[in-house]
Amino acid sequence: MPRKTINQIEVASQRVLMRVDFNVPMDDSGAITDDRRIKLALPSIRSVIDRGGRLVLMSHRGRPMGNGYESALSLKPASDRLGQMLEGVRVIFPGEDCIGDDARKSVEALGDGEILMLENLRFHAQEKAGEVNFATRLASFGDIYCNEAFGTAHRSDASMVTVPLAMEGKPRVAGLLLQRELTFLREAIEHPKRPFVVLLGGAKVSDKIGAIHNLIGNVDTILVGGAMAYTLLQAVDHDLGASLVEPDKVEEARRIIEEAKSSMTELLLPRDHVCGKELSHQSPVKVTDGPDIPDDWLGLDIGPLTREAYIKKISTARTIIWNGPMGVFEIPPFDEGTNQLARAIVSATESGAISIVGGGDSAAAVEALGLANGFSHVSTGGGASLHMLEGRKLLSVELID
Ligand code: 3PG
Repeated sequence: MPRKTINQIEVASQRVLMRVDFNVPMDDSGAITDDRRIKLALPSIRSVIDRGGRLVLMSHRGRPMGNGYESALSLKPASDRLGQMLEGVRVIFPGEDCIGDDARKSVEALGDGEILMLENLRFHAQEKAGEVNFATRLASFGDIYCNEAFGTAHRSDASMVTVPLAMEGKPRVAGLLLQRELTFLREAIEHPKRPFVVLLGGAKVSDKIGAIHNLIGNVDTILVGGAMAYTLLQAVDHDLGASLVEPDKVEEARRIIEEAKSSMTELLLPRDHVCGKELSHQSPVKVTDGPDIPDDWLGLDIGPLTREAYIKKISTARTIIWNGPMGVFEIPPFDEGTNQLARAIVSATESGAISIVGGGDSAAAVEALGLANGFSHVSTGGGASLHMLEGRKLLSVELID
């Protein structure tokens, strides 16, 4: 870091093989419900075609079986959306097989300033397996490799790792979005202005164990919400009613709590909860007056005392990273914890804090609230940013010049 970016190399009449992350959500009718990942790749895409480069885009979408074409996971809607965003530029979509003859012929026929989008790479099981022959075939489509897929940067799929390996000796550069994501996250994690506060939420503590271990001793405060908090509370002998707990992680949770106690990091757990009888708008609602949850009730959000305590920490923080919602934010009234904390982060940002929200559900919540512009950075990669919080290297990024 910093890596060489697409803007820094000559692309005229060169075939640029760009790995993007167009794994965008769609509704049942196949309409894209959030096109942010496409929009944010536009500067890199423009950088190639406006300078007369020939752009070959590749991406995955969803988690297909790897046995061939599945219409529900086609990248055609993403290709169409890209075409709409780039008025006057045709996006060629050669069809069902990303390494088939149609794809190869279309790549050969590609002219300066034109774009071709390959079909979902994961229709081939070789993509997930990082298989060499598959990667070599893809690699033959480019003179330059560009990694513009931060959302997938933590994966070792063929297009992320084996393809750039197969293109050794050719330029391998970073896309502008990838570069921006890495810069924001690295700067915050490695040189935080203090107090440094991290909010961790979401359903499972097992997803966040690596991050918590790495953050203890490095950050000032970890604020825990979401169902992952219930496993930690169980570890200190609270009753959690019918809440989601991971019984096989309780011992690990106990170790985490002990580790935090003997470090400079304070690990805050919810003091109260908003509970329901079921996951629905119609559910009866109960607010507990402490960390215990009565039998037959499910913890579904952090309670008012917890919100107040967390907001206090956020208001004095100078660096804030958030990964995972505080409750079931899709179902009011269990969205209040996530909503209020999102607003508190926006006001801390207005007062000068650097704030980053990891991708996935917490980024979706911030988008849905219309608060994305109030954060310093809304990441396009939930898993990738969590990987960085775990202190792990991103192999795909290491391969860039
Ligand atoms: C994501 O949405 O997290 C990325 O596109 C990676 O997808 P994956 O988790 O299926 O590898």
